[in-house]
Amino acid sequence: MTKNKKVFLNGEYIDAENANVSVMDRGFLFGDGIYEVIPVYNGCLFCFDEHLDRLENSLKLTRIENPYSRSEWREIMLPLIDVTKNQYIYFQITRGTAEKRDHAFPAGVKPTVFMMCNDIVPFDTKENGVKAITLEDNRWSACNIKAIALLGNILLRQQAVEHDCAEAILVRDNYITEGAASNVFAVIDGVLITPPKSNFILAGITRDVILEIADKNKIPYSEESISLNALKTASEIWFASSTREILPVVELDNSLVGNGEVGQLWRTMNDLFQNYKTTYTANKK
Ligand code: PDD
Repeated sequence: MTKNKKVFLNGEYIDAENANVSVMDRGFLFGDGIYEVIPVYNGCLFCFDEHLDRLENSLKLTRIENPYSRSEWREIMLPLIDVTKNQYIYFQITRGTAEKRDHAFPAGVKPTVFMMCNDIVPFDTKENGVKAITLEDNRWSACNIKAIALLGNILLRQQAVEHDCAEAILVRDNYITEGAASNVFAVIDGVLITPPKSNFILAGITRDVILEIADKNKIPYSEESISLNALKTASEIWFASSTREILPVVELDNSLVGNGEVGQLWRTMNDLFQNYKTTYTANKK
């Protein structure tokens, strides 16, 4: 653990090595909590309101009380940020610490709030593209909640890593849902396609930004289901997430995607995305 790294825990900024939660915390015992990840570019919280909208939705669906207002959340984040770097805020809210282990909600407990800020480590092979593997999506059917209970996701990501892949593309009943920790885009017959929002995917903020950019720049796009067979015909495949931005896939299940090189639309979109970030951060200063 980095020495002297400050984190926020239940109202206090403390050294990470001294930040402790009870073993009776519902997050520890049940994975009973939700989280968010917000990229921070040189001190600017990227799409803060969109992330807070999703946080509020996750809290509503899990019936966990929101302990802070939006402006309070922002105030809590600021002291953790190094404005000279590109970082991300990770924060989670669990239902709190109960006296005994019981699946049903405990009465009268306060949520546990934990927050930290880490550097974004640029994906070293981004420009060359990455390999991906398709795996059966065996997670539950409430993937629209950004739950800290990520056992399904981590087992899938680990399988991908053990196959020398950067990410897994998850398939439910022959249709693509998302990545283990990302959303999926495919270019099929010249159209940029991503599966529609549903309870089987997390509504990614990066995904929304990509669609907004496509719309503004007249790039043909569609939110529609992608079958596994259709995915195999894609000329480009991308992953999208807050920490990896837009990652091109050049190999899927040991076969080349398109000609096996990073696609032209990815290059265009990546440039537009970088410009979007620059304009966004300049306007918020
Ligand atoms: N995960 N789908 C899943 C399952 C995810 O875990 C993520 C992001 C996304 C993309 O969402 P966004 O564009 O808002 O980051 C989609 C984060 C980065 C994580 O768990 O660390």
